[in-house]
Amino acid sequence: MLDNGETKKTPITPEKIFTNRYSDGLNSDRQNPEERAWMFKNIFNRDIFKPKGFLDQEIVKGKVLDLGSGKGGLGIFLKEINPEIVIVGTDTVDYSKKGLISDRYSEIFQQEAVAFLEDVQKSGKKFDLIVSCGLPYETIIRLIEKIDFGQVLDQNGTALFLVDYQLDEETIAIAESKGFSIRQGNYPIDLCIITCFASANLKPA
Ligand SMILES: C[S@@+](CC[C@H](N)C(=O)[O-])C[C@H]1O[C@@H](n2cnc3c(N)ncnc32)[C@H](O)[C@@H]1O
Repeated sequence: MLDNGETKKTPITPEKIFTNRYSDGLNSDRQNPEERAWMFKNIFNRDIFKPKGFLDQEIVKGKVLDLGSGKGGLGIFLKEINPEIVIVGTDTVDYSKKGLISDRYSEIFQQEAVAFLEDVQKSGKKFDLIVSCGLPYETIIRLIEKIDFGQVLDQNGTALFLVDYQLDEETIAIAESKGFSIRQGNYPIDLCIITCFASANLKPA
């Protein structure tokens, strides 16, 4: 409220509208799944997939696991890239009760991400692609520290995590020592891309 009793209005510029569309960020689950899928298309085309990015679209193949799948927007996008994939998700929240989960997933588990991967590790099951978007910092750190991704990824598999916060130097050092590489995306808020490849020679230059 201003001194004269009026409410201060922030001018809305085209940039502001554009930014606001994403201001919920990667850590939001407020958008509907189709909106999220559209956002992922833009992020992947600008920051992740070649030619602008660093990964071939062919990483989207076979068995895919989405950690913190939420309402399933990432599954919608990944199925568009390759309809042949079999994608499962896991999330601590049961979104199906809210009728909001996308139908692209063959199964959604209600389990914590690290606990889920520890079970996968014990079972000897492997995925071709493990993705996540918007997991909390604490979960990302535990994933990096506790999970041996060489054991849960198929030989040519990829793990790809997107977050919209910075990792501290110590975490980056731990992540890199375990074969992860950290990239800064530029879409349109600070985007951090954390990747890991099951086979060391698949690491991008
Ligand atoms: C910001 S939402 C993103 C959802 C979806 N990945 C997307 O991008 O549309 C983060 C999701 O991660 C889930 N989540 C948070 N911590 C988790 C954990 N430790 N294990 C599994 N899911 C978790 C939340 O319940 C929420 O659905």
